[in-house]
Amino acid sequence: MKKFKKILIVLIILFLILQIPFFQPKKNFTKADPVNDISTAYDVPMDIQMSLYAACYDCHSNYTKDYPWYSYIQPVSWWINKHIVEAKKELNFSEFATYTPKRAAKKFKEIAKEMEEKTMPLPSYTLMHKHARLSDEEIKDVITWAKKMHEEVSAKLDSSAH
Ligand code: HEC
Repeated sequence: MKKFKKILIVLIILFLILQIPFFQPKKNFTKADPVNDISTAYDVPMDIQMSLYAACYDCHSNYTKDYPWYSYIQPVSWWINKHIVEAKKELNFSEFATYTPKRAAKKFKEIAKEMEEKTMPLPSYTLMHKHARLSDEEIKDVITWAKKMHEEVSAKLDSSAH
């Protein structure tokens, strides 16, 4: 029993040390103008934009609006930060205008696919974030839009190849 107590105290001390701000990953807040946001280069109707803001931008942009209180507690903040870093590497709506047309076409296709399969937004995220739960109608509209954009950008790619 004594040994158990010692281990517990060591774990509590370790946990407290981890809470020192030094170990906090930098939060995903940019102050830069969104000059390369997807809407500056592609047609994003307002309703689609609002769905993307609500359900995707927390991970797939340079600004995470909704950091819950527990995102400031270690090791949760590492776990959340890892998601954001990986998500942005794959797809960053704040940088989308810098993508080559080929990459953009591929990303539009993947957006439709991920949403059709309901793998995006991450279920662990929608569980905790009510605002990110899109209705079936909203999901359908984003998919239709992403498919249309995929076709448009691909068509341009094909015509410029000749
Ligand atoms: C909680 C964070 C989070 C949210 C919210 C989120 N994603 Fe993701 N997304 C990720 C992560 C992490 C990855 C990379 C790892 C993976 O594929 O699971 C990813 C990958 C993707 C990919 C794959 C890109 C590729 O090239 O394979 C697409 C497409 C995507 N997300 C679209 C979306 C869309 C659309 C939304 C909103 C409807 C969304 N995501 C919401 C975290 C998130």
